[in-house]
Amino acid sequence: MSEAVNQGTFILLPAATVAVYSRDHETLEAARNLINDWRFARVQIQVEEGDVTTATNAYKEINSADVVIVQTDTIEETFVKKLEDLGSQCSEGTSAIVVGPVNDVYLYRRMIDMGISDYLVRPVKTEIFADVIAKSLIDKLGVTGSRLIAFVGAKGGVGASTLAQATAWGVSDILGQKTMLIDGAGGWSTTGVGMGFEPSTTLAEAARAAANKDEDSIKRMLFRASDKLSVLASGGDVMLEAPLQPEQLEELLNMLMVTYPVIIADLSHASENMVNAVISKASQIIVVSTPTLTSLRLARSLIQEIKEHRGGDDKGIEMIVNMQGMAAKNEVPKKDIEQAMEFKVSTMLPFDPGVFVALETQSKKFMSDAKGGEILRKNLLPLVQKILSVAVNESDAGKEKSGFLGGILGKGKAKG
Ligand SMILES: Nc1ncnc2c1ncn2[C@@H]1O[C@H](COP(=O)(O)OP(=O)(O)OP(=O)(O)O)[C@@H](O)[C@H]1O
Ligand SMILES: [Mg+2]
Repeated sequence: MSEAVNQGTFILLPAATVAVYSRDHETLEAARNLINDWRFARVQIQVEEGDVTTATNAYKEINSADVVIVQTDTIEETFVKKLEDLGSQCSEGTSAIVVGPVNDVYLYRRMIDMGISDYLVRPVKTEIFADVIAKSLIDKLGVTGSRLIAFVGAKGGVGASTLAQATAWGVSDILGQKTMLIDGAGGWSTTGVGMGFEPSTTLAEAARAAANKDEDSIKRMLFRASDKLSVLASGGDVMLEAPLQPEQLEELLNMLMVTYPVIIADLSHASENMVNAVISKASQIIVVSTPTLTSLRLARSLIQEIKEHRGGDDKGIEMIVNMQGMAAKNEVPKKDIEQAMEFKVSTMLPFDPGVFVALETQSKKFMSDAKGGEILRKNLLPLVQKILSVAVNESDAGKEKSGFLGGILGKGKAKG
């Protein structure tokens, strides 16, 4: 069980979706009561009169909820088979909870082995439901409030976008946090190329939807890069006009921060007033520079201005020196950088076109590439882990988090 669960469940739960399929009026009523529970304010609860087959059929058409609860009156082999069918229609991270007719340790163990998160015996009281669902959500999504992590380049082309995208993959798919990547570059955005989507919207459109509190439109503007990583699919903006006013950006961020525990903002090539708006809200600002004098000089001024902006404190500001070794003779060594800037370098990344340029059009591969993966885990993730308070747990990545489907697949493997 994770640290998060040990903190208790009496908290405002993270944004998520929960679906309950039952034909039992008591259970349906108990589930409906959750809608008025303050802890579930950000949780969408769907209560359906139905069973495991109803859920399976629904998920052939739409994405499965984060937590799916199915009630059954019978627990013989045909039900187990139906559960397997449900598992095969659910997204990777979905957790499933079964409400059954009898209390049976053998059955409980069998369900858990299948990847079911919990087995409850009817009748289920509202408090029990609340507790079990809360535990499941906290375990999956964490308890922390939303964190905004901004990447800003000291000058153009220092690698801020590449590092923001690699970090977004790491935070979502290695640290298991539901993450949103947003690119402030408007029409200059390169995120679509790195993440593999055609820009289908503009920052201005997204901001308009946020101003109208139009969550459905915002949802349609997202590219789902993975189960845990969404990207605002902007980039269709014109290149020669400022895409947004800072207050519009703030509105958009405020809306996204309600739903996403982690937001990564790529501010390379964003306008000054956008950078300004984001750095005052950010939990962490990562300034990217190269080890050349020109870039470092700008990095020093930028860090100074960010500090002043944040009340003179350099808490939450990190500096990455990227592309070390590109022009070795003209580079400033780390100790001289730190002395001249009176600021600690958080990490230095090597110049390695074989990794970085090769992965420029497929940032996801950072996780699987031997060198890129090492840089991601050793040099990039530790910077954000401090504020996210989550551990890189290699053995957990993709195992426990794969939930119901993973359990079903694992069972199949064990059999064969
Ligand atoms: N450590 C590295 N070694 C080699 N190439 C790198 C490294 N880091 C980034 N690059 C490459 O440098 C180029 C510029 O990177 P990127 O677009 O991420 O920079 P940026 O700071 O976002 O630029 P812009 O100011 O245009 O937004 C890309 O081709 C990228 O693949
Ligand atoms: Mg960029």
